[in-house]
Amino acid sequence: MDMIKVIGGQTLSGKIHISGSKNSAVSLIPAAILSDCAVIEKVPKISDVNSLKEILEYLDVSLKFDGDKLYIDTSNMVNKDITNEYSTKLRASYYFMGALLGRFKKVVISLPGGCSIGKRSFDFHLHGFEKLGARVSNEGNLYKIEADKLVGANIRLPFPSVGATVNIMLAAILAEGETVIDNAASEPEIGNLIEFLISMGAKIEGKDTTRLKIVGVEKLSGGAIKVIPDRIEAGTYILAGVMNGNNLEVCGIRPDHLTSFFDKLKEMGASFEIRKDSVITNKVEHLKPVNIETAVYPGFPTDLQQPITTLLLMADGVSTLRETIYENRFQNTKYLNEMGANITIDGDTITVYGPTELSGKLVKTSDLRAGAALILAALSAHGETTITDIKHLLRGYSDLISKLTNVGAKIWLESE
Ligand code: EPU
Repeated sequence: MDMIKVIGGQTLSGKIHISGSKNSAVSLIPAAILSDCAVIEKVPKISDVNSLKEILEYLDVSLKFDGDKLYIDTSNMVNKDITNEYSTKLRASYYFMGALLGRFKKVVISLPGGCSIGKRSFDFHLHGFEKLGARVSNEGNLYKIEADKLVGANIRLPFPSVGATVNIMLAAILAEGETVIDNAASEPEIGNLIEFLISMGAKIEGKDTTRLKIVGVEKLSGGAIKVIPDRIEAGTYILAGVMNGNNLEVCGIRPDHLTSFFDKLKEMGASFEIRKDSVITNKVEHLKPVNIETAVYPGFPTDLQQPITTLLLMADGVSTLRETIYENRFQNTKYLNEMGANITIDGDTITVYGPTELSGKLVKTSDLRAGAALILAALSAHGETTITDIKHLLRGYSDLISKLTNVGAKIWLESE
């Protein structure tokens, strides 16, 4: 099995170019099946995209990559059951629920996979489909969702779930009449998807707000979109620069998507300069402790909670971090503590006692962003760190090793 090795303490300088957003790409690719053909630009090189590609090929969809451009042709597509073998490789396989239901009015699919960071139920998705007129049944892991026809409805989400907003939108686009989703998620990745759907002929109002109005159309055709820059990948490398940078420039980003993250870095006294589409970072000797609480967009992103924990270890004093989205997203703390950190967990909050010095150890990636937190720790630690179970990291960080090597990190892949 592959592992990543890092010798910490190197100064990072130069440029890191940010890839297309994972969480956009994984909704854009399934959404493409609502049209006869589509092109998606700036697709990240991550294993989640490969897993979606396998599902599309299984459904007889033709795919062609030209660099980071993905051409999708669905003219010979067939609707087949998506079983465990395909669905458990990633969370976003469940976007085929909304997309296949929209296109064929029927989908049979097993429960999705993804990071084990909490309950991650999808009851809002299923209630949304039912509101649109679908019948939902399940035998064990296998869900059958079908409808004679889908009819627009008013749906209020109990929580602004990203996944439920995407799935209900995908199902509603080809439904009869008008659907309103209230308390919808307004993450930038949803805006990216809306632009893509509109380019195919969908009628959607309310982009970047929590109220989406979708007027059903009979058919979608064509479709072109560029995936937005990955704000979480950008945040991860900005943290690397704040910890170890000497003019490290994180390029090709949307600074407006990272406002709450920058606010916390400012509060800590970090050195960074925001430019039009990049951020230049430098290491500073002293950082202030802060209190952080995760929230839906535009609040502090849960996906940067684990990575920023590593930075809090460098602060002069006690920081707290409250996780409000997931119940089990602190699995990184066990390994950080083994590397020399002092972090305690109390319910949904961790307390980080800084400053601490980290030493290289053998650690394991439990989930994607825990992996990012460990990479950041390894880059700052004394000595060599070995990170195992890296499949989680490869799901979400495009060209991780080469991006870090190019700016001076000592990091490489090894096979056992
Ligand atoms: N929830 C329910 N019922 C539902 C849907 C959600 O109770 O039907 C709860 C979840 O259990 C969770 C919370 O609502 O506690 C938030 O879930 P949401 O549906 O918003 O998250 P998601 O769609 O499963 C996406 C990203 C996550 C990111 C969250 C929040 C994708 C593929 N995943 O997940 O990304 O953390 O939104 O922004 O887009 C990551 O990239 O590391 C990652 C986990």
